[in-house]
Amino acid sequence: MLYSEKVMDHFQHPRNVGILENADGVGEVGNAKCGDIMKIYLKIDNGIITDVKFNTFGCGSAIATSSMATELIKGRHVSEALELTNKAVVEALDGLPAHKLHCSVLAEEAVKAAIKDYYDKNGIEYDHSMFPDCENCEGCQM
Ligand code: FES
Repeated sequence: MLYSEKVMDHFQHPRNVGILENADGVGEVGNAKCGDIMKIYLKIDNGIITDVKFNTFGCGSAIATSSMATELIKGRHVSEALELTNKAVVEALDGLPAHKLHCSVLAEEAVKAAIKDYYDKNGIEYDHSMFPDCENCEGCQM
């Protein structure tokens, strides 16, 4: 079977789909390779991600990885969420076919973009090298 049961489950029943009004951080990223878009909304209280929602206009793998990513960061501190890698999301889904790995990059980038937005809105200092600019991100070159 091409896709794991977990991938199929998250694709067919994605968790945390939607929009959060008054989100503390919003991140929107696109995949240059396929044109898919993901938007993630975070509610953050004292540095803890208390709620998260996402909207993905993308393929099944993008939906499954977005869904899993929201589950992995919910209830976590933003500093932990920043460490979330697309690899960890793929592992949590029991893998993705190699030609679909690029889809998982969307979720990692959207989480990072939303946290950066939260930092910017709240005047929180951060290390700018943690957020490589889009043009130089290898995600689009995969
Ligand atoms: Fe675009 Fe999967 S094909 S994110």
